[in-house]
Amino acid sequence: MGSAKSTHLEILRMLRDSEGSFVSGVTLAEKVGISRPGVWKHINRLKQMGYEIQSRSRRGYMLVAVPDSLAHGEIVPNLNTRWLAHTYHYLTTLGSTNDYALILAAEGAPHGTVVIAEEQTKGRGRLKREWMSCANRGIYLSILLRDLLPIRIAPQTSYIGSLALVKTLREEFGIAASIKWPNDVLINGRKVAGILTETQSDQDFTRFTVVGIGINVNHSRQEMAGPFRYPATSIAIETGFAVKRQKVLLEFIGRFEREYERFLEKGLSALLPEIEQYSEMMGKTITVVYGNREMVGKACGISAEGALLLLRDDGTQEPVWAGDIVRIEGGI
Ligand code: BTN
Repeated sequence: MGSAKSTHLEILRMLRDSEGSFVSGVTLAEKVGISRPGVWKHINRLKQMGYEIQSRSRRGYMLVAVPDSLAHGEIVPNLNTRWLAHTYHYLTTLGSTNDYALILAAEGAPHGTVVIAEEQTKGRGRLKREWMSCANRGIYLSILLRDLLPIRIAPQTSYIGSLALVKTLREEFGIAASIKWPNDVLINGRKVAGILTETQSDQDFTRFTVVGIGINVNHSRQEMAGPFRYPATSIAIETGFAVKRQKVLLEFIGRFEREYERFLEKGLSALLPEIEQYSEMMGKTITVVYGNREMVGKACGISAEGALLLLRDDGTQEPVWAGDIVRIEGGI
């Protein structure tokens, strides 16, 4: 007999296997080893989870539609990765997926562990800012990486997240997304995603790295009205239609794994041509703020170590390692 926890998932799997046709209550009851009223109870639980299931007397149950949930059962069986997200923690609500991933990392969770929440109550952005994480609209995820990286290289993993997302949006959804240094993704000049990378290190090498990514997928205009430090948007606002978060997440995870392997094998320089090609600011005059300092110049490249190269009026080139771009020529 299936455990109370997983019986509904067994029933769901049987309904999926017979997609488009009815499965009788008797068959479900026999295969799962429970009574017919028991089946009915579990069907109701699935309905509450958002699965649309038709019931017909004498014919049984048919799965009509699945919710856009990021639960284990909707994502893990459809993954096309060698190691990423094979350990998958899904929570409906959580303070912050990065905080949770940092705890799991300290407890020895494996390389490639993913933490996903449908809602965050203490979502964190860079520089201790808040990350708005309303329920079931966005993707709030953290990836645990356990490779030992030289400390100066670890921040470069943020580029893997932004490149993987930009390529997902461009190639799978036809959306001309771009990268805003150091770790934002924009659509039509507005921020649609942000990345927060955190590490723990021993002397010169990282013990682990957590890459946290927040993507605004189906947020409404009202939810994105702000105030935010930089104009914000969602994929749905920019395209005019709701997007399946499952598809965004699956594509993103697959691409993150591929880009990360490319990065490990060949270094950031292998990714730079694409990062520059998809950059929002290359060739434009930008203003970067770091603490009290404001720098203005033309963005002219990204160095092999990940610094933004700023061409100043006097013709000198200055590498910028940290800060916020607060203005982009011709931007919003
Ligand atoms: C930024 O733009 O400042 C970075 C935002 C990062 C937000 C994500 S959402 C998932 C993960 N958990 C967090 O608390 N933050 C990151």
